[in-house]
Amino acid sequence: MKTVITYGTFDILHRGHINLLRRARALGDRLIVGLSSDEFNAGKHKSSLLNYENRKVVLESIRYVDYVFPEENWEQKLTDIKDYEASIFVMGDDWEGKFDFLKDLCEVVYLPRTAAISTTEIKNSLNPEFDAIKN
Ligand code: CTP
Repeated sequence: MKTVITYGTFDILHRGHINLLRRARALGDRLIVGLSSDEFNAGKHKSSLLNYENRKVVLESIRYVDYVFPEENWEQKLTDIKDYEASIFVMGDDWEGKFDFLKDLCEVVYLPRTAAISTTEIKNSLNPEFDAIKN
């Protein structure tokens, strides 16, 4: 049983997320996802439109996702990989190189991001005033 592990916020789910999850799942036999908690996001000065419970229910319903657990800090990856016996750690390539320190524990794979879509972009398009303020 080859376990693949990945992490993210997965707010306002879009095809970039689905592509990532599908390709991650295809690397092994089961995919488990560390979903950032609302408190962890707040600590990163990031807020999600949907809260943890909502994001979790949506993520769990995706056919490529076998299990969802909370991500509450940066350090837990080291213990999660051991506890869940993950053999492959996957992230989008916007994180290229950032998690190479996990290579002692498992294989680390950065998958190419899907172009031209992100939660931030969707949020901005929902709120044209936000763009107006930025520009
Ligand atoms: N991801 C991807 N392609 C995209 C957007 C995200 O492959 N177009 C991947 C990220 O690289 C990450 C995972 O999906 O591995 C979860 O990303 P997340 O940060 O939740 O999504 P974003 O849409 O990038 O959100 P934000 O704009 O808030 O950064």
